[in-house]
Amino acid sequence: MKRIIILGSTGSIGRATLKVVKENPDKFEVIGLSARRNTSLLNKQIKEFRPSYVSILDKGKAKTLRINKGLKILAGEEGLGELSKKECDILVLGVPGLSALKPLFSCLGKAKKVLLANKEAIISAGEIIKERAKNRNTELFPVDSEAWAVLNLLKKEDREDILCVYLTASGGPFWDKPKEIIKNVKAKEAIRHPVWKMGKKISVDSATLMNKGFEVIEIKRLFNIDSENIKILIHPQSVVHAFLEKRDKSLISCMFYPDMRIPISSGLGIDKFSLKGKKLLLDKIKGLEFFLPDYKKFPLLNLAYFVANKEKSFPTVLVSADEEVVDLYLKGKVGFSDISKIIERVIAKHKPRDITSLEDVYYWEAWAREKVKELVF
Ligand SMILES: NC(=O)c1ccc[n+]([C@@H]2O[C@H](COP(=O)([O-])OP(=O)(O)OC[C@H]3O[C@@H](n4cnc5c(N)ncnc54)[C@H](OP(=O)(O)O)[C@@H]3O)[C@@H](O)[C@H]2O)c1
Repeated sequence: MKRIIILGSTGSIGRATLKVVKENPDKFEVIGLSARRNTSLLNKQIKEFRPSYVSILDKGKAKTLRINKGLKILAGEEGLGELSKKECDILVLGVPGLSALKPLFSCLGKAKKVLLANKEAIISAGEIIKERAKNRNTELFPVDSEAWAVLNLLKKEDREDILCVYLTASGGPFWDKPKEIIKNVKAKEAIRHPVWKMGKKISVDSATLMNKGFEVIEIKRLFNIDSENIKILIHPQSVVHAFLEKRDKSLISCMFYPDMRIPISSGLGIDKFSLKGKKLLLDKIKGLEFFLPDYKKFPLLNLAYFVANKEKSFPTVLVSADEEVVDLYLKGKVGFSDISKIIERVIAKHKPRDITSLEDVYYWEAWAREKVKELVF
């Protein structure tokens, strides 16, 4: 039995992971679950999976949690930190944005393997995390669908033969809409993703294509590929997740039905004969389309390449400014087109410095959030 901890168990990634656990009841022992405030779902998960630890970020909600025999309830950021330090075979990082950074840092050396759904932590503190993971023998395993596709493709190829990597993007809800129409779209339209059912933050990032820009930096970090060799294609059917272009002019692709259970099952080590995710039936797809993204309509993509190139503290500032602005957008305080304008201005103001510790990351996170507030209020 593999001992598993799921951070963000009430979210889209957390629920998909628990579905896989449920499909394989003899393979996993759920030792820890965490949520921010959704105690009604967390209570159902406690009843069903009987973890030893549960962590709730909102301390006020702790008293509404179900008390199982032998269950320890942890609360607040300290609680999440304590849960991340428990020994386990696999920890699933399904919390959004920079809230994942501390738990990821803490679990290295305690978890044998970390399934990385969150990409912001690896973007903002990449080298620090990678080095600590290496020194403490924790495997970092990406389950973000494009990163997982690249991992699979690279496994089978000689790196010398690879010219570049293509990442595909569904394009979100607005990729083919005129610029004037998307200027003022409300959050409820922006989070209506055409393919995936995901949390609000990543759904807005998909609508602005910031998420794809983040993936360029993520792939560069995880697989040491220069950003100029990472290209993006809009692919509305979302069944091809990545291509490799080889020197012999052939392309090889990784295709699978857009179901997060597929990369998650792979990360959990489910053998291919008992895998339950949906099968991709090519004869049911009307066609496969690929388009170049409109960099003028989605300027955050260009900005991500600039940041990926410059490195230093730029990625931390990009991720932090985006998190702050998207939060303001979801609260109705700024418009859709303001998201890219504000982030561009924050990046323009930034004088990059080296990132050598978590303290540096937090310093530049605070700096970027403050700059966003200065520009908005
Ligand atoms: N969903 C996907 O298909 C997908 C694909 C690729 C990558 N990812 C990445 O995976 C991560 C999770 O995405 P998601 O779509 O599953 O998000 P989500 O549905 O919003 O779920 C987030 C989970 O984390 C908890 N949470 C929220 N804010 C938190 C905080 N500040 N501290 C601690 N816990 C917090 C939530 O608890 P409550 O339920 O109580 O709010 C929930 O359990 C993100 O980084 C996303 O970019 C997701």
